[in-house]
Amino acid sequence: MKFVIATHNEGKLVEFQRLLEPMGIEAITMDITEPEESGSTFAENAYIKAAAACQETGLPAVADDSGLCVDYLDGAPGIYSARFAEPGHRRLAILEKMQGVPMERRDAHFVSAVCCVFPNGDKVEAEGKCFGKIALESRGENGFGYDSIFEQDGVTFGQLTAEEKDARSHRGHAFAAFEQHLRAYLGQEEGGEPTVCGLDCSQCPGHDSCPGCGELSKGCMLAKCASQSSCGDCRPFVGPCGLKAQLIREFNALGIPDMEEVKDLNALLGSYINLEFTLPGGQKTKLWKDNRVYLGNQLCKRDSERCYGLTADEEWLMVAEYGENGAEPEIVVFQRRRK
Ligand code: IMP
Repeated sequence: MKFVIATHNEGKLVEFQRLLEPMGIEAITMDITEPEESGSTFAENAYIKAAAACQETGLPAVADDSGLCVDYLDGAPGIYSARFAEPGHRRLAILEKMQGVPMERRDAHFVSAVCCVFPNGDKVEAEGKCFGKIALESRGENGFGYDSIFEQDGVTFGQLTAEEKDARSHRGHAFAAFEQHLRAYLGQEEGGEPTVCGLDCSQCPGHDSCPGCGELSKGCMLAKCASQSSCGDCRPFVGPCGLKAQLIREFNALGIPDMEEVKDLNALLGSYINLEFTLPGGQKTKLWKDNRVYLGNQLCKRDSERCYGLTADEEWLMVAEYGENGAEPEIVVFQRRRK
């Protein structure tokens, strides 16, 4: 099977070839007209590029769209990352706009959206993010684009090897999810039971010390393989991607007056935290999946016998309150996280 890769970037072609070859797919390029990237999200732009290439060539087509979003700049440059300033001046433009901004207000994230469109109109897509900060100055010679001004734990992406960057980057995460979705679409799933934490055991460096899904699903609250900080493949729950630190900030920013300050979050098995809520119409609902691991914590509600339960994943954030052992649970906040 041949897939056309909708890019003029040689580096991206090589990455896509590496990804698609094990699936028996030959990734080729053709001279394709570049459509206007008129979408308002990365996903829309990836779709526009893939759909145009598919229509022009009659082949399944894959495209991606990516960029850097800086909180202090209200998400800019975002989808305009490639057009933000003159080539060669983009990093400097960001650093200049951030001059004098303290480290705690320099949060930023990269996004990568991948999309494959088939001639019958079907599409397979995935998105990956990675969180960090805008460095005070450019550091490191590796990578490209904004790598040398984007840092995690004090190290910029420009200071990482390609392998180190792949393991934590938005594109690495997007490719991993895309591979899973594409295999599912092509009917190439490996079969077998899904793991409790959602990770592929054969790829997890925490495999040897993990007690295994049999143990974890007996109601154990900590999925060790997803919580140990050495496990670089345990997206998105560990250090480098910064999701945990970011979520702590987001929970505290909710400003719930009688909730203690959030200082830490734990990896929690979905079945342990999946309380049943009664909606205003009387319907009952559960909001999480039993067989996934989330980040969360339980905190005291001041001057009350009740507790606050915090739960979040990459997309959603919830604070619920309840009595002993989860009695009479009520949703305090349930919201999609700001992109
Ligand atoms: P595009 O996906 O080729 O449109 O790239 C968008 C812009 O985002 C380019 O200007 C890149 O410099 C920037 N960008 C995307 N991914 C990365 C990355 O991994 N590191 C640094 N810059 C990136």
